[in-house]
Amino acid sequence: MRAYHVCAATLERELGIDPSPETRAVYESLVTVGQAEKTPGTPPFTGRAAERARLAAVWRAAASGHPRLVLVTGEAGVGKTRLADELRAQPGAVTAEARAYPAEGPLAYGVAAAWLRSAPVAARLSRLGRPDLTELARLLPELAARATPPEPLPEAELRHRLLGAIGRALLAAGAPLQLIVDDAQWADAQSLRLIHYLIRSAPSARLLVAATARREELDENHPLTAVTTALHALGRCTEIGLSRLSREETAMLAERITGAALDPPGLDRLYGDSEGNPLFVVEALRPGAPAAQKGPAVIAGRLARLSPAAAAAAGVAAAIGQAFTADVLAASTGLDEQAFVAALDELWRRGIVRAQGPNAYDFSHGRIRDAAYAALGPPRRRHVHLAVARALERSEHAAAAAIAPHYEHAGATAEAVRWHERAAEAAQWLHAHADAVRALERALALSGELPDGPDTAGLQLRLLTALPGRPGDRAAGQPARVSAAVQPLAVLDRDLAQRRQRRRLLPPGRRIPPPPGRTAARPGPGRTAGPPACGPVRWPRPPRRPGAPPP
Ligand SMILES: Nc1ncnc2c1ncn2[C@@H]1O[C@H](COP(=O)(O)OP(=O)(O)OP(=O)(O)O)[C@@H](O)[C@H]1O
Ligand SMILES: [Mg+2]
Repeated sequence: MRAYHVCAATLERELGIDPSPETRAVYESLVTVGQAEKTPGTPPFTGRAAERARLAAVWRAAASGHPRLVLVTGEAGVGKTRLADELRAQPGAVTAEARAYPAEGPLAYGVAAAWLRSAPVAARLSRLGRPDLTELARLLPELAARATPPEPLPEAELRHRLLGAIGRALLAAGAPLQLIVDDAQWADAQSLRLIHYLIRSAPSARLLVAATARREELDENHPLTAVTTALHALGRCTEIGLSRLSREETAMLAERITGAALDPPGLDRLYGDSEGNPLFVVEALRPGAPAAQKGPAVIAGRLARLSPAAAAAAGVAAAIGQAFTADVLAASTGLDEQAFVAALDELWRRGIVRAQGPNAYDFSHGRIRDAAYAALGPPRRRHVHLAVARALERSEHAAAAAIAPHYEHAGATAEAVRWHERAAEAAQWLHAHADAVRALERALALSGELPDGPDTAGLQLRLLTALPGRPGDRAAGQPARVSAAVQPLAVLDRDLAQRRQRRRLLPPGRRIPPPPGRTAARPGPGRTAGPPACGPVRWPRPPRRPGAPPP
């Protein structure tokens, strides 16, 4: 079924045709197709002649050995992804795609890992030398069998080796190369820095990185802004801003979708309701869309017309929050195989989801995912997140950082804490310190909901010890229960600091006097002296191997 979905999407996109009757017959033998619906497709590209011409010019320059970044910006639904999709039609281009998601904290090197797993890059990984495979195994656990286990490395060395290995792997996929990152406003900082590295370090590579991003989500502190500013200064970045469609363009798009020109009152209504946002134009003109609905309600209405099984599968897929394999979705829905296949196929036929990458599906638009998630009531959400967490735990590629939030939303606090802690370890392994701190702080905050007892106190001490800074200082900002639990460690930490300080001040050979009286609540004089007693100094264990249970 997936092969059919990929084949149909490719034929539609690249040639504007449907699969042959023979291919369709094989597909129909797999799923019971209700109404003979046409393969879902996107309307032909419409308007935007100037922006399209700029994109083509940038591509020609990049493909001739002047690597660059093109950033397509604009509001949600305005057509950024659709314009970037046009790149793939360029003859001879090798394309690797990734999409970022509005997760609680993006996974370090997540976008880079998606590029590495894309078909043209993955197909050539085996040609890399063992040292490069060893570095890449830090991001792709599936390479572990082919590589020497990676070692902990100092930060600068790790970055140097890892970026070098990723760069060689991507550029080995063929040329001219397009690296597309959709929704880059949610991309991880490490992958965005990689873009800068690639374009700078391979000055004659036949490479175009194309990013789409919602302009309103990029402030001056966003890591993408730093990358575009630096590349602008080198003359290697082009931004193409998209505005809403004009009335004439809206009319043209409507005609392409329906096959007939709208009458003037119909066009007035469509333009008024959609305000020239192509997403709402497309959704309003889908067969069966109620005339009275406008804007976001159109999308909710579309979901309401799904069969119960397909609607349930859409809700579960939305809770996953990013691209998903059919296996993970099947395991999370709990539908039997026949019902699941029919439900997923219905979602695909109705254009709710699309095939993405070599082995995954995703919603055809983030707005549809949002609407499907909003349709889940709170009790159902908990249940669904628990099922998703369990399914991800058993899947091959799921990162700890992707699993933890599902347990959290499910109200399974102990598991959530455990997976946040694992996520922190995986982040430390990649020197993604901000991610590690965020995960540890989340685990610590959640630990306040666990039952009192020595296990919880021990856990909290461990989390506080892993955080940078003094445990006592850290504990001060925590809820009363947490700071009470950590008090003994804070006292010990202060005593050690005082002893160290006195030892430095005493003449050689003198014994260290006993510590002063312990008045636990008052901060001691040694607080600010000496090196930090605790912090992310211990090297974590290697990231969890696929399928392995948490400790
Ligand atoms: N120029 C165009 N011609 C035909 N269809 C278009 C055009 N622009 C956008 N569309 C259609 O409008 C819908 C929304 O476009 P798209 O997904 O590209 O928006 P977006 O800007 O990427 O939104 P978001 O920020 O939410 O990702 C899609 O169905 C897309 O196919
Ligand atoms: Mg988009």
